[in-house]
Amino acid sequence: MQGDARVIELLNGYLQIELTGYKQYLVAAAACDNWGYPRLRDRQRAYVSEETEHAGRILHRILYLEGKPVPSDAGEIVVASSVEDQLRRDEALVRRAIVHLQGAIDYCASHGDAGSRDLLEEMLVDEEHHLDWLEIQLRLIGSLGVENYLQEQMHA
Ligand SMILES: [Fe+2]
Ligand SMILES: [Fe+2]
Repeated sequence: MQGDARVIELLNGYLQIELTGYKQYLVAAAACDNWGYPRLRDRQRAYVSEETEHAGRILHRILYLEGKPVPSDAGEIVVASSVEDQLRRDEALVRRAIVHLQGAIDYCASHGDAGSRDLLEEMLVDEEHHLDWLEIQLRLIGSLGVENYLQEQMHA
């Protein structure tokens, strides 16, 4: 089915955020492993899987709409200097994803592409859960102190 050009552009925009997230969380998982925080490593790995699945579904949708996938990431993945720095970088990326998705969902809804809208709405819910988890971690660091928080992350 021939899709709207702007819808394809918006899908590619989200794909770029997904591929950036995939790389960012992959690096984060390895860093957590290296720092000795297997619990956080496992969470990051779960987000790697989630973004991989999101990216695959977006690619499929772009092809279905007869668009050209642009599977590039946003470049430059920064290796965080600490767990807190990492969580803040993830929070910034997930916020970007949510803003992008909200705009894309509105566009799809007002241009008669309910299929793309539904797909993006499912992803928005996942990103909101991701943001919720990040906000909770940052709040826990604030209330428990970073040492106590990190001690909990040493058990898988
Ligand atoms: Fe995602
Ligand atoms: Fe995410």
